[in-house]
Amino acid sequence: MKKIKVDLQKNSYNISIGKGILARLPDELKKINPTAKTFFLVDSNVNNYHANAIKNFSEAAGINYAYYVLKSGETAKNFKQLNLIYHFLLKEGADRKSIITAVGGGVTGDLAGYAASTFMRGVNLIHIPTTLLAMVDSSIGGKTGINFSHKKNMVGTFYQPNEVFADINFLNTLPASEVLSGLGEVLKYAFLLNKNFFEFVDYNMHKIISGEEKIIQKVIIECAAIKAAVVSKDEKGRGLRKILNLGHTFAHAFESELNFKIKHGEAVIAGLISAVFLSRRLGFISEERLKHFLHLPGKIDLQNKIIMHSKQNIYDLMLHDKKNVGGKIKFILPKDIGVMLIDVEAGKRDVFYALEAASSFITGK
Ligand SMILES: NC(=O)c1ccc[n+]([C@@H]2O[C@H](COP(=O)([O-])OP(=O)(O)OC[C@H]3O[C@@H](n4cnc5c(N)ncnc54)[C@H](O)[C@@H]3O)[C@@H](O)[C@H]2O)c1
Repeated sequence: MKKIKVDLQKNSYNISIGKGILARLPDELKKINPTAKTFFLVDSNVNNYHANAIKNFSEAAGINYAYYVLKSGETAKNFKQLNLIYHFLLKEGADRKSIITAVGGGVTGDLAGYAASTFMRGVNLIHIPTTLLAMVDSSIGGKTGINFSHKKNMVGTFYQPNEVFADINFLNTLPASEVLSGLGEVLKYAFLLNKNFFEFVDYNMHKIISGEEKIIQKVIIECAAIKAAVVSKDEKGRGLRKILNLGHTFAHAFESELNFKIKHGEAVIAGLISAVFLSRRLGFISEERLKHFLHLPGKIDLQNKIIMHSKQNIYDLMLHDKKNVGGKIKFILPKDIGVMLIDVEAGKRDVFYALEAASSFITGK
């Protein structure tokens, strides 16, 4: 098992990554507070496969717990689900010492995290990510939230968990399409870290997709370590943390435009491709580097799901991105592997160009 620390003074916590580490959960719960009740909030698909394991470990260790199954899918990240969680917590006697344990992908983590941060002004929170995407990214860093008015993560908080437990055994039941989606964030980290990791991901792409454990575990450790290091330096995203949004200004607009019918990670891959084309258009990278950068995302078949229906709509959606200031869209663009440009402004024509170029790269037309 590997432990990585997110170093935030009194908000510091560990990310544990390994195979079969769920068995250690009861001890961790007792460490937080031996008498507190635990409230499991579990994604419905995860519940189908893993309910027995979660309940057996908890019962064997004498944990006092309540268990609630959450609707799965991006559209469940809403006020209605949140309301149901608050009712469940009240009905089951949650108090300020209680521990919410979120077991699921990024949707569960964001929703349960938001509930934990707001219920009684904040209760303990443990993330148990069960998707590749959640293990490498969403369970780390404390962003919580729900979608509102068709816009991603419009309502949310920063709220750090007490612990993150990434047990790679969960990935055994993850559908291949979700592994592919998780690759979106892995690719982002490949751009952010260094040439070695970029080449490692490129070389091992098939092994990652086929779920080869050693490779997947290394990828999760590398990505989690980058995210932990970035968040440790900039918890609230005022400076360095902005690099984690590489590809995401585009990606969030694609998701909204396509009514959340595409997966977040797929949108991120299309967003990375768009950001690379925009970087070239604005003269930050050469034609040769453009080709090098596109080689990796080009290996993933997005099956033409991301077709830019309306560039104007996508542009308008990007104008509403939370990261903008003064009505200007701010982009993170790659200059080299491991070298990002932050808060780049781009004109409408340049953005339209990037969208068209990305669209034809993805569709091959
Ligand atoms: N908070 C952050 O910093 C952050 C960062 C990146 C993404 N996100 C958010 O994360 C969400 C996407 O996360 P995701 O890709 O994990 O999606 P998800 O939570 O919707 O999970 C994907 C699918 O996999 C199923 N599933 C989960 N674990 C499983 C398992 N072990 N076995 C079988 N099925 C399983 C789920 O039921 C769901 O159908 C988005 O809402 C995105 O905005 C948040």
